[in-house]
Amino acid sequence: MKTAITEMFGIEHPIIQGGMHYVGFAEMAAAVSNAGGLGIITGLTQGTPEKLANEIARCKDMTDKPFGVNLTILPTLTPPDYPGLVKAIIEGGVTVVETAGRNPVDLLPPLKDAGIKVIHKCTSVRHSLKAQEIGCDAVSVDGFECGGHPGEDDVPNFILLPRAADELEIPFVSSGGMADGRSLVASLAMGAQGMNMGTRFIATKEAPVHENVKQAILAASELDTRLVMRPLRNTERVLNNAAVERLIQKEKDLGDAITIQDILPEVAGVYPKIMMEGAMDEGAWSCGMVAGLIYDIPTCKELIDRIMLQAEEIIARMQAMARA
Ligand SMILES: Cc1cc2nc3c(=O)[nH]c(=O)nc-3n(C[C@H](O)[C@H](O)[C@H](O)COP(=O)(O)O)c2cc1C
Repeated sequence: MKTAITEMFGIEHPIIQGGMHYVGFAEMAAAVSNAGGLGIITGLTQGTPEKLANEIARCKDMTDKPFGVNLTILPTLTPPDYPGLVKAIIEGGVTVVETAGRNPVDLLPPLKDAGIKVIHKCTSVRHSLKAQEIGCDAVSVDGFECGGHPGEDDVPNFILLPRAADELEIPFVSSGGMADGRSLVASLAMGAQGMNMGTRFIATKEAPVHENVKQAILAASELDTRLVMRPLRNTERVLNNAAVERLIQKEKDLGDAITIQDILPEVAGVYPKIMMEGAMDEGAWSCGMVAGLIYDIPTCKELIDRIMLQAEEIIARMQAMARA
């Protein structure tokens, strides 16, 4: 399938694996890219520019295909070494960067000078337009369904995607709640040029996470995620567990007086224990409502091939309907 996104990124299928903390290692990115999609290494998970450079080199050993690096711009007091991470990306010969979080304007000049394509992930039409205005090449439009940070507007993709199509000139992909060929065709129908998936890619053979994480996604239904940290205006969609219930109780008890300090036990530094050790109740971890549509653990190639086949079948069925 050829779309503006496959052309822009030099990939076979219009399917992107969004950056995911403690999931987006070289194994994940290479598996998706080898299957014809765009795999993405998560920059901040690597920690330092040197470690990111090493991860990029490992990914290059595993695939000849294009892959990207995610740079999430967090509101922290001690920011990561973004210039160093950007340097590692450029020197590593990476061709695509997925930015997320805050406005990426400060990162753009060196990336653009190096000829790197930048896709900014954001959760509203106004932020998408801002990304277009500052020179991003594409946008990943992340609806309310998404795993991770859906923003504070709560607009689901059935509204958000056509709204983005009505306003944007640069290409965009859908993100949030995407799982299969139906998601891809629906995204294309609503004006997207491809789709981005997070949670779905965790439940694959190659995802370098503990088996417990994959089984938790399989066991979860669309009713099992919760929104946390809304009082801090840093809303995150996570899979419900004992730590999340504790966190929500604190939010109820403390109301507007709650601070990040109050919930540090549930959110700080929990990802390695969950993703690497499979300690599933250790804290809050991002997961999309799409867990309800995930029933198996295929390889990335099986997953992507299946999505493309299903998408083609649906399009053919629709063409037959339109002609009837
Ligand atoms: C476990 C997990 C960790 C994530 N970490 C990040 C991250 O570090 N940076 C980022 O930009 N997005 C992150 N995301 C969001 C994904 O890139 C993607 O936008 C989202 O999962 C899409 O929604 P879906 O899960 O419904 O497919 C994360 C998502 C998950 C499930």
